[in-house]
Amino acid sequence: MATEKSIEKIISLCKRRGFVFPGSEIYGGLANAWDYGPLGIELKNNIKARWWKTFVQNRADMFGLDAALLMNTKVYEASGHLKEFSDPLIECKACHARFRADELGFPIQKTEGTVEIFEPPKCPNCGKRDAWAAPKQFNLMLKTHIGPVDEPFIKCTHNSFTRNLSKLSELPECPTCGKKDAWAVMPDDNDIYFRPETAQGIFVNFKNIIDTMRPKLPFGVAQIGKAFRNEITPGNFIFRTREFEQMEIEYFIKEANWQESFETWRLAILDWIKDLGIKNEEIHELEVPKDELAHYSKRTIDFEYKFPFGQKELYGLAYRTDFDLKNHQLDYTDSEGNKFTPHVIEPSLGVDRSILAVLCSAYTEEQLVNEDKNDTRTVLRFPNWLAPVKIAVFPLLKNKPELVSKAQEIFDQLKTKYACDFDDNGNVGKRYRRQDEIGTPYCLTIDFDTLEKGTVTVRDRDTMQQETIKLTDLDKYFKEKL
Ligand code: GAP
Repeated sequence: MATEKSIEKIISLCKRRGFVFPGSEIYGGLANAWDYGPLGIELKNNIKARWWKTFVQNRADMFGLDAALLMNTKVYEASGHLKEFSDPLIECKACHARFRADELGFPIQKTEGTVEIFEPPKCPNCGKRDAWAAPKQFNLMLKTHIGPVDEPFIKCTHNSFTRNLSKLSELPECPTCGKKDAWAVMPDDNDIYFRPETAQGIFVNFKNIIDTMRPKLPFGVAQIGKAFRNEITPGNFIFRTREFEQMEIEYFIKEANWQESFETWRLAILDWIKDLGIKNEEIHELEVPKDELAHYSKRTIDFEYKFPFGQKELYGLAYRTDFDLKNHQLDYTDSEGNKFTPHVIEPSLGVDRSILAVLCSAYTEEQLVNEDKNDTRTVLRFPNWLAPVKIAVFPLLKNKPELVSKAQEIFDQLKTKYACDFDDNGNVGKRYRRQDEIGTPYCLTIDFDTLEKGTVTVRDRDTMQQETIKLTDLDKYFKEKL
């Protein structure tokens, strides 16, 4: 019998077992920042490696890329992000709490100004209904500053030496050329933005890919990397954060083929979700209404997952038309010499949301009827490829050196091929529970039969069945299972 899962239980397990820790914890934390622990990074790496293998290495029409997080601001002028990449923000004038207006049920509007509100919601912070300011569009781009100055500065026009202008009562002599009259006052124009999507790194490298790889349409460019957004309402654990990771593909096609390609990618995303072990019934495809589409999209499907806190976007699939390549003034010439701007289908997958969805989907609590003491077990039913630890090796008794050294020897061999754990702490039943809780598919116990008959006991996480396997067959056994 399974009991209910909640986000609190999942957060607690993640912290307790080394999947995800609150960020900057020893300094009181930083709201909505999270760090991946030893098991979390294994899970993350498994997801990213599988995605890369599936969508890049196993295909002839895909190319990988790893572009810089910081890009020339002109990229975002051209892509429309500086002007259009915003969410509607609403502030309660009574308590000054700020929220995303659409999430509170305010009508969505793409331009600023007052909206007529018939039944304003209560402020989730102070409960007042009548203190709302007019909603405004809040740009989500996360700004930073590069270079050694963060204020107006002076620059010697003679030799480019720079120094901060503040705290100067008069212009000094330049320490390198000695001139006092060659200074130019420079504005602080060093503001720069972290990328809000990995996609733009792909678009701006379109010509480099064409020139170096000579691909024929249709083809795609894939990238995994961090993206940053100054989200108004981050929250729900790792669901919405200001720093997150994306796995994105920009698939370049001829305009005439967009519907067919969109459908192919829709099915590819569903296959990927299935590969993660997420059941069909946990997913809902939302056709995003025309007036809610991102500024670059003509059609978007959101793949929503039934998280414990509600049905929310897991991934997106967008038809970006020729919007980006046109704005960056990039084109393609086919083998007949025809020059045109390709169109783009974009499957965009969040790494952190993938992790949260697999944790929610895999999390199970089972009441065990015939267990004497601890009759509940928590299990992460990950698919084998996804599990952070594949095999746990136990010596039956920790105070028998001959068992411990044999177990160590087997562990050393297995860990060259699989992610393994060694546990000699407590009784074997407790060790099984600990491995169940982190989703380890197989536990291997080394006992006196191992020494005498050369066999080990392999226990399966899901069925809890135990099998006796010959040491000489172990390699073959795991090759088939993992
Ligand atoms: N390039 C298109 C794009 O970025 P998006 O729908 O804004 O589209 C794509 O984001 C995916 O990135 C989402 O479906 C989600 O998986 C992930 N994502 C977006 N914002 C996020 C955030 N603040 N925190 C965690 N993941 C996020």
